[in-house]
Order: sequence, then structure tokens, then C-alpha cells
Amino acid sequence: MITKIEELLKKVEDFKPQAQADIEEFRIRLLGKKGEVTALMEEFRTVAPELKRELGQKLNILKSAALEKVNAMKSEFSGRTASGGKIDDMTRPGTNDPIGSRHPISLVRNQIVAIFARLGYTVAEGPEIEDDWHVFSALNFPPDHPARDMQDTFFVEKNPDILLRTHTSSIQVRVMETQKPPIRVICPGRVFRNEAISSRSHCIFHQVEGLYIDENVSFADLKQSILYFAREMFGQAAKIRLRPSYFPFTEPSAEVDVSCNLCGGKGCGVCKGTGWLEIMGCGMVDPNVLEACGIDSTKYTGFAFGMGIERIAMLKFGVRDIRLFFENDVRFLRQFGSVL
Ligand code: PHE
Repeated sequence: MITKIEELLKKVEDFKPQAQADIEEFRIRLLGKKGEVTALMEEFRTVAPELKRELGQKLNILKSAALEKVNAMKSEFSGRTASGGKIDDMTRPGTNDPIGSRHPISLVRNQIVAIFARLGYTVAEGPEIEDDWHVFSALNFPPDHPARDMQDTFFVEKNPDILLRTHTSSIQVRVMETQKPPIRVICPGRVFRNEAISSRSHCIFHQVEGLYIDENVSFADLKQSILYFAREMFGQAAKIRLRPSYFPFTEPSAEVDVSCNLCGGKGCGVCKGTGWLEIMGCGMVDPNVLEACGIDSTKYTGFAFGMGIERIAMLKFGVRDIRLFFENDVRFLRQFGSVL
């Protein structure tokens, strides 16, 4: 027994773990239920009384040496870091630093952009602080149109010519002024309207508008493009319907409804029992707008559409209050980490 104890003591002294897992294995091999030291303890009960004293002492030394070694090795390994200068345990699982998730508005914007990219649209951007021409005049807004009113538009430094854009149609004007047809662009961006903040509207929100100009572009092309978008965004079962509407820059104009994806069109609280949800405005670009931007309206036709990203995101994710998108409460934002 003495030789066995000494043998094990030497083993403890010589033990050099390569990896953290080795330490646990070593502990089990010696001190576990079926370990070698444990077995010696069992055996100790049967040794002759005159040997007990000496053997007992030796056994205790062995046991505490083994324990000490295990603990010392454990703390050494846990103290090792890649930056600590020591050789790290390459088998140790890494620690993940928590990273954020994309904002739901970014997720939906990216998805809208991706859908239209598949139809050949490219992205155009423009300034948030605009002039009257690009936001209103070039778009056929009469001088007395209520959208120009102080109630709807934020003006910059009391100068009625400089304002925060109320829609991203201003980007489309910039594109038409600088590019020749065929034009196929979508314009995502932040827009500003002097409106009371409620669960349904905010003074800052995001839009994606689209513009397609070429020879022989028809209303049928518009309808088909929007149907494609609605199905990609809300699922292949989505239906659309167009209701006549009015915008100064399109003629004819329409509002687009998509079948309610929450109740499948049967009628529910979100669609107010109608089975339909309004998602965007659209129409054929008014010839006056084409001419104002230097495009020959006898040769070219085009369509335009525009939607609010918050609205699409609310419908898609069942968010009932638009203000949640601006409060940036991580408990809200965190939920969208991997939805798209
Ligand atoms: N610019 C319109 C808005 O902000 C949306 C729209 C774009 C409507 C293009 C028709 C065509 O409300």
C-alpha cells in the first residue's frame, strides 16, 4: 500500500494538464467514487491496527495533495485569457459578447429594397432638408395646396423655401432631373410631417417610394409590380385591391389595400372587420411632373408608388403603436433579432 501511495503522490506532482478537461478527468481518476485514492481509503479500513497511524498520515497527505493540485490547476486555467500572455486553453468554449439586433424599421426597409431589387430597381437617396421645388412645385402641387401649410410641413428657419421633406418623392424629382429614361428606382428615407403624435401617426417616419419610367409603361405594369411586392412581403396568398384616389403628381391615382394577413381577409380588429389593410399610394406619373423634370411626356410614361415603412412593419409584426419604433426600448427591439 505504501508503494501505491507513493506512486500516486508522484503522479499528482507530475500532473500537467494540457486542457481544462484534463483536470476534471484527473480528479475523477483519483478522487472520484471509483478513483484510485478513494479505493485506497477503502482498503485502509482493513489494514492492521499497528500500520494505521503511518498509513493514515500518508493517505491524508496524498488526498490533500491531489485536491490542492486540482484546485490550483483549475484556477490557473480559468485565469488564462488570450490577452493574458499565457497559452490559452484552445478547447475552452468561447464567450459570446452580446451584440444588438437590427431595428425592425431597418429590417423591413432592407426587405422592401431586396424585393424591388429583384424587379431591377436600384436605390436612390436624397437630402432630408429640401427646397420647395423638389418636394412640392415639381410634383404639380398647386401653390395653395394644404400640404405646404405650416400645419403639415416643418420649415427651416422661417424660410418657406427650405423645409424638411414630407415625402421621398423629392428624391424621384432629383433622379428625373439628372437621369434619362428608362428609370427604375426606389427611394427609402426619413420624412417629416407636422402631425400630432399618436399610436397611429408620428411626426417622423420612413418611406419607400418607387418610380418606373420608360416607353409604354402602363397601369397594368404598376398593378402587377405591386401584386408581386405584396406577395413577397405578406405571403403568396396575399391579394391586393386598388381604390381610386388623388395625388397631385399622379393621374390616375390609387390607394392600394392588401388582404389582411392576420385574419386571412375574414375581418378582424386590425383590419376593422373589412379584411383589407391600406399599404400605399400609387399612380401614373402626371405628364406635368415629367415635363417639369425635363422628360418628354409624349414619349415616356411611368408609374410611382409610395409606402410608409412603419405601417408595413406594424402590419407585418402586429405592432399596435407606432411610437414603439422610436422609443428604442431594448425589450421591444430585441424581439426582432432574427425575424427576417
Ligand atoms: N408621396 C405620396 C405620400 O407621401 C405617396 C405616393 C407616392 C403616392 C407615389 C403616389 C405615388 O403620401
